[in-house]
Amino acid sequence: RPLLDPIPPLPALYASVGLSILAFLATIHLVPRLGPVFISAHLKGRDLLKIYHDPIPESMGLVCAAIYILLLMLFIPFAFSSSIMHRANGSPTPEGINIVDFPHHQLSVYLSSLLSLLTATMLGFLDDVFDIRWRHKLPIPIIASIPLLMVYYAERGNTHVVVPLPLRALLGTLVNLGPLYYIYMSLLSTFATNSINILAGINGSEVSQALIIALSVVFNDLLYLPWPIGFRVPLHLLGNKSEVEFGGVWNAGMSYGSRELVERHLFSLYFMLPLVAVCVGFLYHNWYPARAFPGDTLCYVTGMAFAVVGIQAHFSKTLLLFFIPQIFNFLLSCPQLFGLVPCPRHRVPRFDPNTNLLHPSKAIFEKPPSQLTTFVLHTFATLGLTELTVHPASGVILEATNLTILNFFLVRLGPMNEKRLVQVLMCSQVAGSLVAFVVRYGLAGLVYDG
Ligand code: UD1
Ligand code: MG
Repeated sequence: RPLLDPIPPLPALYASVGLSILAFLATIHLVPRLGPVFISAHLKGRDLLKIYHDPIPESMGLVCAAIYILLLMLFIPFAFSSSIMHRANGSPTPEGINIVDFPHHQLSVYLSSLLSLLTATMLGFLDDVFDIRWRHKLPIPIIASIPLLMVYYAERGNTHVVVPLPLRALLGTLVNLGPLYYIYMSLLSTFATNSINILAGINGSEVSQALIIALSVVFNDLLYLPWPIGFRVPLHLLGNKSEVEFGGVWNAGMSYGSRELVERHLFSLYFMLPLVAVCVGFLYHNWYPARAFPGDTLCYVTGMAFAVVGIQAHFSKTLLLFFIPQIFNFLLSCPQLFGLVPCPRHRVPRFDPNTNLLHPSKAIFEKPPSQLTTFVLHTFATLGLTELTVHPASGVILEATNLTILNFFLVRLGPMNEKRLVQVLMCSQVAGSLVAFVVRYGLAGLVYDG
């Protein structure tokens, strides 16, 4: 059991903030300078929702990923600075500091995370260059998560889930999901990477999602840090009388469990702060009208960063709550992803150059849809998720608006310009995070005791 350090490892956090500022400056400076280099390497795309045809540098997420990962590597000595100082200062404890005391476990958490991020970057970049097929790109993040899962296993990570109160008579208080929990975590990595990539296509959409999710994770982590005084937040939501205790005083006498909790959330902050920084820097160049496109690289690397902190810092269920718009978009997309409804290469909204407004784009049925497809689409249309064009005489479906959250917004709220649509998307992401916090800290007490 590692020795208790009476001082919280906050100097490392200050270093992380400093390196994040560096990451922001590097991104803001390098993206426009490297744009022409990307264009001459044929990494370019046309903005589908503009009248002009100028090539825009694509996969600029590679620049973000490179800055992000290099700074995370540079940060390793800072993350372990308290162990390094201990050793340099001789042995201040009766047991003596020796090689055994070095937190090798934390180092393996850190290194396996970097490995997963590197795999995601490589996959994203290959997808940008070769347009990899779905059946090939889905399993890769699952395999890339094995190092994370092995580290989780090595530290006897929890595979139990708390059963909600109404189901307790049936299942008991705790259920051990065992291997199923590992399958769930590996699916989380493929979900996080791909779900951002399929909620894309308008200026600023990919990077703003990543930024808001990262800020939500940062906020959640801050609740667990050793603030000078612990604070209690009374929660009276819907009659819930429970209190949640945040923070806590860092001292040598604090329990091993609470110390571990703080360390896990510090680890998450080390990975999220530079991500926030590169996202802010990149959003500046990707904001309407975009001068740079993120490409699949940014979607994959940010998604993997979320999966990494969710798994390694043990808050994967809270993390999923921050993906409410992505979960909605994925469920809505299923009929197109699984072949029930035709899926065009691009499902982005349709641009009307005369009014500068976006309208829902449509999937066109070349032959009459099957009974199952007709049933699914009519259900979706009844729920207001899509708009159908049917043959006036036979009632056969001819067209359906593409099943994405962006088209859904346009169906519900009417045509709007691209900037407004990305703002609506960002608001929905922020609203999703607010709901997530209420569910996590407010309603959890109703469903689970304590
Ligand atoms: C995913 C979506 C696809 C959507 C595309 C847009 C699914 C199954 N796939 O495909 O429907 O059209 O993302 O990114 O949902 N682009 C813009 N403006 C932007 C960003 C991108 O016009 O702000 C266009 C550019 O032409 C760019 C291209 O989208 O070159 C990038 O598409 P790509 O990332 O390769 O598409 P996919 O991820 O395969
Ligand atoms: Mg993409």
